[in-house]
Amino acid sequence: AEDIREFPPNFLWGGAVAAHQLEGAYQEGGKGLSIADLFTLGSKDQPRKITSTIEDDKYYYPNHQAIDFYHHYPEDIKLLAEMGFKCFRTSIAWSRIFPNGDETEPNEAGLKFYDDLFDECLKYGIEPVVTLSHFEIPLHLVQEYGGWRDRRMIEFFLRLAEVCFKRYHHKVKYWMTFNEINNQTNFETAGHLYTNSGIIPTAGENREKLMYQAAHYELVASAQAVTLGHDIDPDLQIGSMIAMCPIYPLTSKPEDILFTQRAMQTRYWFSDVHANGFYPEWLLKFFEKKHFDMDITTADLAALQVGTVDYIGFSYYMSFTTKYAGHEDFNEEYDLVENPYVKASEWGWQIDPVGLRYALNWFTDRYHLPLFVVENGLGAVDQLTEDHKVHDDYRIKYMHDHITQMKKAVLDDGVDLMGYTPWGCIDLVSAGTGEMSKRYGMIYVDEDDHGNGSLNRYRKDSFYWFKNVIATNGAEL
Ligand code: BG6
Repeated sequence: AEDIREFPPNFLWGGAVAAHQLEGAYQEGGKGLSIADLFTLGSKDQPRKITSTIEDDKYYYPNHQAIDFYHHYPEDIKLLAEMGFKCFRTSIAWSRIFPNGDETEPNEAGLKFYDDLFDECLKYGIEPVVTLSHFEIPLHLVQEYGGWRDRRMIEFFLRLAEVCFKRYHHKVKYWMTFNEINNQTNFETAGHLYTNSGIIPTAGENREKLMYQAAHYELVASAQAVTLGHDIDPDLQIGSMIAMCPIYPLTSKPEDILFTQRAMQTRYWFSDVHANGFYPEWLLKFFEKKHFDMDITTADLAALQVGTVDYIGFSYYMSFTTKYAGHEDFNEEYDLVENPYVKASEWGWQIDPVGLRYALNWFTDRYHLPLFVVENGLGAVDQLTEDHKVHDDYRIKYMHDHITQMKKAVLDDGVDLMGYTPWGCIDLVSAGTGEMSKRYGMIYVDEDDHGNGSLNRYRKDSFYWFKNVIATNGAEL
C-alpha cells in the first residue's frame, strides 16, 4: 500500500539547474568565456571534445545558446511557481561576475542579472539555492594558470564567494561551494578533471597526483568560503556538494568487502574533509605510499578545521558495484562492475531507488549533519505529441520510487533532510554529453541536439504529478 505520510513542514521541494546548462547568452552582459563554452556536442558513445578556441565552422557548442534561460527566465520561474516550488537551485556563472576570473572588480551587469533572477524567484516565495562553482570556471583561469593546478585559484574563488555573499545574502540563504567535487575521483576520464578543476593533463603527467592536489586547493577554498560567508552573515547555510553513487560489493567475499570499503573511502574522502575538517588517516598513508609530495600547509590544515560545512548537499542518480581487483587501491575507471540486481537507463546509469535510502543513512551515520538531495532524476528521450503533451510515466515512476525511499529515510530512520531538488526540472543541455535529447525536465523545451526548435516550453505529465506531490507535501506520490 502507498505510504501516505507527509514530509516534515518547511521541506524544501524544488528543482535544480546549473548556469552553463541553461542560460545561454554566453557573450551577453559582459560575460567572459568559461570552460563550458569550449565543450562540443557529444553523445553516449562519443565524448564531448574540448577545443582550445571556438571552432564554430567545425563543431556545435550546445552551451552557447542552451535553452536561452537568460532571456526566458521570467516565464520559466513562473512555471516553476505554478508547480509549487519552494526553492530553486541554480549556479552563478563565474565568468558573468569575473569575466576573466582574476580581475579585482566584478562586472556589474553580471551581478545585476542574478539580482533580477533571485528577485523573480522571491516574488513567488521561491527560495534560491546557489552553487558557486558548477563546472563553469572562467577560461582565462585555465589558459593563464592551468586551472586548479595553481594555488592562486583559491584567492580568485574567494573573491567570487565574497562578492556573491555580500551582494546576495539578503536574498540567498542556502549556498554550496563546488558542484560534485568528487567526480574527479575518476581522473582517467579527461572530462572530469576539466569540469571540476579546469585541468587538461599533458601526456605522461601523473593525473592522480594532479587530482589530489587540485582537490586539496578546492577544499581549502571551500572551507575559507564557509568561514567568510559566516562572517558576512551568520544566517547563511553553506554546504558542500558531492556526487553520491554508493559502491556495493559484488559478493560477501571478505576481499570484496575490504576493497569496497577502500572504494568508498576513495570516492568520499572529499566529504570527510568538508564535514570533519581533517584528512582521513588512510589517505595520508596513501600519499606517503605513492610518494606524492603534496602542497598542504599548516595554514591550510587550520583553515579546513574551522571551515566545516553546515550541511551536505548531494546528487543521487545511481549506485555502483565493485569487486576485488587483485590490487589494493580502487581505480574508478577500471574497477566497477555491473550490478545484476538493478536495471540501467538508456545512458547506462544503474537505477537504484533503495540506494538513496542507503546513502541518506550512510551520510547521517558518518557526519550527523543535515542533508539536501540537490539532484536526482532520469535522463530519457521524450516524445512531444502533436497536441504538445509529453507522457513521461517512466520519469514519474523514477521519481515516485526515489521519493518513497527518501520518505522512509526521513520518517523511519530519522535522517535530517532539508529538501529535494530534482535535476533539470526544465529540460537543459546534458553536462556529460551536451545533448538536449537526454532530458530530465518536468517542463519540455522544444529544441533538438543541434539547437533547432521554437524554444517553446510545455508542461509534461510529470509536471502535474510533481505539482500534486508538493501540494500534498509528499503524502500523495
Ligand atoms: C550531475 C551534474 O553530474 O548530473 C549536472 O551536477 C548534470 O551538471 C547531471 O547535468 C546529469 O548528468 P548529465 O550528464 O546527464 O547531464
